Amino acid sequence: MEKFYLTTPIYYINGNPSVGHAYTTIAADVLARYYRLRGKNVFLLTGIDENSQKNVEAAEKAGRGSDVQGYLDEMAIVWQKTFQAMDISYTRFIRTTEQDHHRAVEKFWHLVKEKGDIYLGDYEGLYCKGCEAFVNESDLVDGKCPFHLKEPEHIVEKNYFFRLTAYRESLLAHIEKHPDFVGPQTRRNEIVSYIKNFMTDVSISRSTMKWGIPVPGDDSQRIYVWFDALINYLSGVGFGTNDQTFEKYWPADLHLMAKDIIKFHCALWPAMLMSAGLPLPKQVFAHGFFTVDGQKMSKSLGNVLDPVEIGNTYGHDVLRFFLLREIVFGEDGDFSLARLEERYEKELANELGNLVSRVLAMTEKYQDGFVPEKQGIPFMDKNLWSRYEQSIEALHLHETIAVIWENIRQANQYVEERNVALILLPFIPATAEKILVQLGYDVSYASESWEGKTTWGLLPPGQQVTKGEILFPRREDKNSNS
Ligand code: MSP
Repeated sequence: MEKFYLTTPIYYINGNPSVGHAYTTIAADVLARYYRLRGKNVFLLTGIDENSQKNVEAAEKAGRGSDVQGYLDEMAIVWQKTFQAMDISYTRFIRTTEQDHHRAVEKFWHLVKEKGDIYLGDYEGLYCKGCEAFVNESDLVDGKCPFHLKEPEHIVEKNYFFRLTAYRESLLAHIEKHPDFVGPQTRRNEIVSYIKNFMTDVSISRSTMKWGIPVPGDDSQRIYVWFDALINYLSGVGFGTNDQTFEKYWPADLHLMAKDIIKFHCALWPAMLMSAGLPLPKQVFAHGFFTVDGQKMSKSLGNVLDPVEIGNTYGHDVLRFFLLREIVFGEDGDFSLARLEERYEKELANELGNLVSRVLAMTEKYQDGFVPEKQGIPFMDKNLWSRYEQSIEALHLHETIAVIWENIRQANQYVEERNVALILLPFIPATAEKILVQLGYDVSYASESWEGKTTWGLLPPGQQVTKGEILFPRREDKNSNS
């Protein structure tokens, strides 16, 4: 079986998951489900970034004092439960405080050191704690980090450095030779300009920190959290602990994230891999950043939306659907509950829900509940499956949903909805499964491969259907939000 290995960023857990974190994770899950249905052996890696200094502060704030590990264990459960509630079908949820990750990081450090790419040097500069990164004057807006709206600190330290600039030419050559390595195109231009004009060697250890993985051979320093975090993509599939699994899945087929962290993934990370003598991931894709009702989501503004709360109010499939329907994948966008309610009423309740209930009611009324002989379906979109495949594999996820909805609108005029249920499976799995069961399929049909099924007219005549519960009940209490 062909493998497909994809990853999300590992998230900082100094707070609960937001709809921002949910967005990337849901998109990754849609792709994981899609490739599984296409018969691939999928490995979906997600998890949490635990060796950050912010976690030490968060533990203190949460009243855990110096029991950082206790705080992390608690938060890990919150994040896992959230992802489970959102129906994220991850293969592994990695934590960077795990033993096998530490072993992988040590092994990796040695490889890079042997290559001669680690040296001791002095660092003086501006550091943004939110980014866990040194920043340039030119990155700041009004003296503040544009992502965290805080002034960076001035830091002077003796650190280990990674010879990133030694890889400038190799990185540029790789990007030139593999046009799909960085996506979308706008990000590719940004990365090329960064590598050419701004990239410097990076400090990969901290002498002032007490939390994190110690530098092998020098306990007075901790490994820089980004150097450690990126390696999760290797340790997640067995690097340093399980050679067989590692050989099977590495290199990754896709690293997904938002544009805020693309530099780390398209410059530092591939250079680290080159230095360690390991193959590079096939693609790094960055979607945009979204605001909430036009404002940046932030704790200080108090507008950080909780995916669990939204899921409990509207349904977890509704959140999955809305995020990918509303925001063009790869571009910036805006999230608003008012828009979610609109799309709920119009597209989920009226169009999809109505299609399913009409078709089944008619079949029960006029056909005693049995699928009739084929009548021909002259107006259906003959190119549905190829358009679907092309758009989803190019990561144009919003376009895939648009194709689905075009077909739902057409199908509303015809009694043929098995295809609709199948194409919805990666996006809103719980709903799609309910539709298939109402159409008379065994529940296992929802997880079987699509081999041989990607065409219209395969609903077997004579199959018994049953009208089930309403998929998207009207929301009477529109404004009460309960
Ligand atoms: N720990 C690092 C990543 C290390 S990966 C080796 C980190 N963590 S984070 O918690 O800050 O997560 C950043 C990611 O969260 C973004 O790249 C994106 O995937 C997701 N998002 C968080 N808020 C978001 C929006 N408002 N909009 C879109 N994506 C958002 O960086």
